[in-house]
Amino acid sequence: MDKAITIQTADYSILFGVNAGNSLDEYLDTKMYSKLFVLMDENTYEHCYPILSFDSEKLLDAELLVVDSGEENKSIEIAAHLWESLTDGGADRHSLLINLGGGIISDLGGFVASTFKRGMDFVNIPTSLLSMVDASIGGKTGINLGHLKNQVGLFLAPKQIIIDERFLETLPQEQILSAFAEMLKHGLIADEKYWLELCGIKYLEPKYLIPYIEKSIRIKKQIVDQDPAEKGLRKVLNYGHSIGHAIESFFMETETPLLHGEAIAIGMLAEAYLSVEILKMPNDQALKIEQKIRQYFNHLRIKESQIEMIATLVLQDKKKEGELLNFSLLKQIGQCEINVQVAKNQILKSLKYVIYGFSN
Ligand SMILES: NC(=O)c1ccc[n+]([C@@H]2O[C@H](COP(=O)([O-])OP(=O)(O)OC[C@H]3O[C@@H](n4cnc5c(N)ncnc54)[C@H](O)[C@@H]3O)[C@@H](O)[C@H]2O)c1
Repeated sequence: MDKAITIQTADYSILFGVNAGNSLDEYLDTKMYSKLFVLMDENTYEHCYPILSFDSEKLLDAELLVVDSGEENKSIEIAAHLWESLTDGGADRHSLLINLGGGIISDLGGFVASTFKRGMDFVNIPTSLLSMVDASIGGKTGINLGHLKNQVGLFLAPKQIIIDERFLETLPQEQILSAFAEMLKHGLIADEKYWLELCGIKYLEPKYLIPYIEKSIRIKKQIVDQDPAEKGLRKVLNYGHSIGHAIESFFMETETPLLHGEAIAIGMLAEAYLSVEILKMPNDQALKIEQKIRQYFNHLRIKESQIEMIATLVLQDKKKEGELLNFSLLKQIGQCEINVQVAKNQILKSLKYVIYGFSN
């Protein structure tokens, strides 16, 4: 384990490079919770809970809540099931929910904790790369509504985030790739040097990526600190997501759902096209983005017959304002502009460019 680092935000601290069990116990030493609950999915129960509990004495009496993995379980039905489990387990407003898992667990668990008895504390212990660099940070909690992502939720920060990179050892390779899309996004929207560093990574393996986790966290934190409730600046984090979320929603309904990062990679490609068209991002930069995204995500599968439906889903997205939609697009690599108005026909064109390429 590398040296421990504490990143302080206004409301909580992010501990990085630590032993999760020890750090959890240290946090619990400062609190008097009536009862502890640990939320996991079956994979993090199998692979991560043994690591966490090995070094934590305080978890001996914790109640374990295990849900099935998968985006379809970030739902109101599972949230209701968890509220009932908390009630059955004797939880009250002075209990703590520990979210041990990827972004689905931190989104779902954060939402359940924030709403249970008008709010109980929660701590995030992210176990996927995506949740370490992105999902567990920033205080957005929520669930999906049918096939529409993150439609119900609230902004509420965890009491602490504990990042122990040993968890990455069992994370499937496809999940590493998926998270890498969000790391690339951090460079694209905020830091060209970081983007170039990431472009130099040859092998997407935990040991090569761990040195960059801290940088991604700092970029996200810096943005969120300035605009916690997404009234303005925070929208830069939506680069690639207006179209990416619609693509993710579209494929969620099929037999071949896409990983979040895969959908965002397609979204970033489409929105790089829009950045050139609308904000006049230099063409050569868009080509570099295209090249990198295609290098890492080499099976970007959308078909021309699907783009009308995907564009309709973009329109249903929460950023809808009249006929024009507000996007976050790139002025250049490392600089993102918010509230850029985009029309449906431009979205359709951008999706065609994903299929046929910028260079064709
Ligand atoms: N709140 C936010 O700001 C925010 C930001 C980005 C994404 N998200 C949300 O996060 C979710 C995606 O997050 P994710 O990619 O972490 O998905 P996830 O939670 O589904 O985790 C991915 C898969 O990896 C498994 N897994 C996790 N850690 C593991 C480990 N250490 N070893 C073995 N298997 C492990 C999980 O069981 C799951 O099957 C989406 O719902 C997305 O909307 C939220």
